[in-house]
Amino acid sequence: MTGTISTYVSLLPLLPSIFSTLVNSTPIERRAEPATKPGFNRVWYEDWGHKNGITHNWVFDLGTSYPGQVAQWGTGEIQSYTNKTENIKIVDKVLWITPKKVKDAKGKTGWTSGRLETRRGSQWACADGKKMIVEASIKLGSASVQQQKGIWPAFWMLGDVFRGQGYKGWPEVGEIDIMESVNGLRQTWGLVHCGMYDGQIPVRGPCNEPDGKGGYNGIGRGLWITYGVEIDRSSKNWKTEKITWIINGVRKHSITGSQINNATAWDFLAHKKMFILLNVAVGGGFPNGVEPGDALTPFATTIDGDSVGMQVDWVGVWQQA
Ligand SMILES: *[C@@H]1O[C@H](CO)[C@@H](O)[C@H](O)[C@H]1NC(C)=O
Ligand SMILES: *[C@@H]1O[C@H](CO)[C@@H](O)[C@H](O)[C@H]1NC(C)=O
Repeated sequence: MTGTISTYVSLLPLLPSIFSTLVNSTPIERRAEPATKPGFNRVWYEDWGHKNGITHNWVFDLGTSYPGQVAQWGTGEIQSYTNKTENIKIVDKVLWITPKKVKDAKGKTGWTSGRLETRRGSQWACADGKKMIVEASIKLGSASVQQQKGIWPAFWMLGDVFRGQGYKGWPEVGEIDIMESVNGLRQTWGLVHCGMYDGQIPVRGPCNEPDGKGGYNGIGRGLWITYGVEIDRSSKNWKTEKITWIINGVRKHSITGSQINNATAWDFLAHKKMFILLNVAVGGGFPNGVEPGDALTPFATTIDGDSVGMQVDWVGVWQQA
């Protein structure tokens, strides 16, 4: 008894701090469901609730390239993708992709991370005269800029002909980057890639490769934000068709067929079927390119773990009725 009382007494000074810990603890987050889209049918949806988990709708991309294709996924990124839960997992119906630092047998530091693409058969095109929306709810890691140098999360689409022809022919197959952010910046890029790229500088072709065409917008990190694109073919004239990037329901920037000014390239971008990808790369041309002097990322200051990763609550495709 005495012992119990003295224990209570010695706890007393701690009570205020215990109380404030409880009061200040993070509330359970409410994640937004997709906004209703009047006049559209939801034709595909992922909210990570299926009993088969990730592989119900997705294929893991593994290693450092598509089988036998361009090394480092063609971007110079340095990580190797795995399907291990330390890199990619579902927690409480949210997908987490987490870059990890690893040591090889010689003690050299490398990186692993995760990348998914929708399985074969899951690819979508916008019908002539109609609109299509592809959108996801995503939370990006909120570690500091110095800690995220080289970290490159992305939500994007590639022309399905790319898989049909053995993962060859980028960028002609067409690519729409719905959300890309690098180096912990409070910015998201929304770009298209298309046409030809012969490795020449200055940039070339209808999509100014290797830079692509589009724009960027300010965003918050550590917050659930919806990122989407709308492909709009309602004008029935390829030159005035457009792709619009939408953040939290707000239209941000667009690109039209006439801005690409190449009917074949626009056909790949806005008319043909595309599949969806989600990944967090480490290093490569894009994160290096926004550093002064194209410094090679990641830096020694770059950390791994969930605070530099990407969470995805849901992904969906909506086609106009
Ligand atoms: C994970 O990848 C390994 C090969 O690295 C493969 O053998 C295994 O079947 C994969 N598991 C899943 C769930 O895809
Ligand atoms: C137009 O796009 C096609 C397909 O992407 C490409 O092969 C061709 O070189 C482009 N034409 C010009 C003038 O850039």
